[in-house]
This record gives sequence, C-alpha cells and structure tokens, in this order.
Amino acid sequence: MTEIFKSNNKKGVQISSEIIKNNGIVAFPTETIYGLGANGLEPRAIKKIFSAKGRPIDNPLILHISSKDDLYRLAFINKKAKKLIDSFWPGPLTIVLKKKKIVPKEVSAGLKTVAVRMPKHKLTTNLIKKSGVPIAAPSANISGKPSPTNFKAVYEDMNGKVDAIIDGGESRIGIESTVIDMTKKKPVILRPGGTTKEKIENVIGKVDKHPFLLEKKAIDSPESPGMKYKHYSPKARVILVESKDKLPYLIKRYKNFCLVTFQKNIKGDKKTVYVKNIKELSKSLYSVLRECDRLKIRTVIVESPLETGLGLGVINRLKKAADRVI
Ligand code: TXA
Ligand code: MG
Repeated sequence: MTEIFKSNNKKGVQISSEIIKNNGIVAFPTETIYGLGANGLEPRAIKKIFSAKGRPIDNPLILHISSKDDLYRLAFINKKAKKLIDSFWPGPLTIVLKKKKIVPKEVSAGLKTVAVRMPKHKLTTNLIKKSGVPIAAPSANISGKPSPTNFKAVYEDMNGKVDAIIDGGESRIGIESTVIDMTKKKPVILRPGGTTKEKIENVIGKVDKHPFLLEKKAIDSPESPGMKYKHYSPKARVILVESKDKLPYLIKRYKNFCLVTFQKNIKGDKKTVYVKNIKELSKSLYSVLRECDRLKIRTVIVESPLETGLGLGVINRLKKAADRVI
C-alpha cells in the first residue's frame, strides 16, 4: 500500500524518513521535479527504485545530500567542482565526480563516477537529514514518460508501487537539474537543466555541451548512460516548431491538437497553453504533456523557445520527445 502525505504534515516527513531508513522507497518533491528515493548506500533499497520505474539497470542514479560536507565521503572533489558547489548548491545542479568506495555499484551502474546534488527545497532537505543517508533518486515517473511535476502525475505512475508519496504541490522549476561531468579536463554538460550554461561558465569558464544534447538520436556511451534511452515521451505526438512562420499553416492542417505558444493571437483546437516566458514554459511543459494524454489529444504543437538560459534544457527535452522538428 502507498501512504500519501501532504507536505505540511510534519509526521509525513518523519514517517517517510523511517521508510527510507528501513530500505523502503518514497516519492518526494524537489525544486526541479519529483524524485523517487531510497537509501543510497543500500543495494537492496536501490533495486526497488529500478523495478518500480522499470528503469534499465545500466542507467545510474543521482545521490541527494542535505549539506555540502556530505559530498566528501562520497566523491573526490577538484577545484572547479568546489567552485560550482560554492556557487550553485543548494540548487538544480548535479555534479559527476570520481566516486569513493562507499557508493554502491547499483547507484553508479558500475561506473567509476557518481552524480551528486544538493536540492534547494526545505522538505527535501529535512527528509534527507532525518533519513541520515544520501538519498538515491531518479525522477518519480515510469521510465520513458515525462517527469512528474505535481502530485497527480506521481500518483498516476507510482501509486501501489512505492511505500509513500509526499504531495508538495507544483515543482518550482519543472525540468530536471543540469548534469555536469567534472571528471574531464574540460567539463561537459551531459544534461542541460535548471542551472544555465551561461551561469556555470561565469564561474568556471568554458564548458562543453555533450554533442547529442540537441539530437533526437539515442546513443550508447559509457560516460552518458542516460542518453540512449527514450525520454520525456507522452503518448501524443510532439511537434517542435522552430520556424515560427510555419505555425499558421500547422494550425490549419492539424486536428485534435494542443498548441503551446508564446503568442496570444493564435489558438489550438482542443487546448491552448500560453506561456509568458521560458520560466513559465519550463514549469508547465511536463504537466501539459501529461494533461494532453489524459484528454486523449493526439498532437502537441510546441513553439520553440530560444536556445539560451533555461531554453537549452527545455529544447533538449522537446527534441528528445519530438516526432518532428519543423
Ligand atoms: O532534478 C533532478 O536531477 C531530478 C531530481 C529528483 O533530483 N533527478 C533526476 O534523476 O532527474 P534521473 O535519474 O531521472 O536523471 C539522472 C541523470 C540520468 O540521465 C543519468 O544517466 C545521469 O543523470 N547520471 C547519473 N549518474 C551519472 C554518472 N555517474 N555519470 C553520468 N551520468 C550520470
Ligand atoms: Mg528521469
């Protein structure tokens, strides 16, 4: 059975931390999206995450910590990584470093590295502190589906499969953390997300983007294990529109579609979602994709944002989800 707790229920966090201590699994909110957590030092607990999500076991997990000092027993730190931590933690930045022995191979999927993040969310911090261990947590969705950014989405995918769900309302950012590999001479962004490339470069200088960030195609490389799998995909067909002048034509041509746009003067036929800026798009993207599936909308046409700032992360998700880019 899955216990449900409201975020303002202090007992809920207490009980959830006990579940984690006892090697159970709990879905919980963070500032990016909802995570599905377990004791990150206990293989038996970690395995439960993989089976609840249907996640391939060669895709490693992020360890979530509640204080910067917790990093030292998990990974080897270098100067640039230290700068990132000082500037962006707590926050939506996941840092990949050489792992220490204490990190089980079930977390790192057999790699020599580990991904660590310190979330900026009071409830999450409390939950980690009370649990007394780093919490291993991927997104709390069934593998391949859009990540959950509200309770309804988590419940849809995880009710009956996890020991508890904590309802923390809408996620503030709405896409996942940025994942950066700090084990290379020149750092590499493996997944763009809540912390922008521009901000990172202000602190540590130039970084590389993984060459497949804005490609649909799946790849198989040991350093970026998550990339070869299908991600962020609703049942609906997603069309990403880069050439805005094609929008009027697409609106005429398609039936049973939802339009996600920055422009107030155009409309979808089944549903229209206006977003004011990239922050709003990031915050609503996954919930809109899920809502369209609930409404059995066949196509979602999304006007592309610019590639700067949070836009890079949003375009990355859209490119992976899209059936067509126009
Ligand atoms: O915002 C987030 O990061 C959320 C919340 C819950 O913290 N978590 C999340 O986890 O998105 P997940 O498992 O859905 O995505 C983690 C990504 C995957 O693409 C995985 O392949 C990559 O991080 N990753 C994890 N460990 C890695 C490692 N050692 N080396 C390279 N990539 C790694
Ligand atoms: Mg995920």
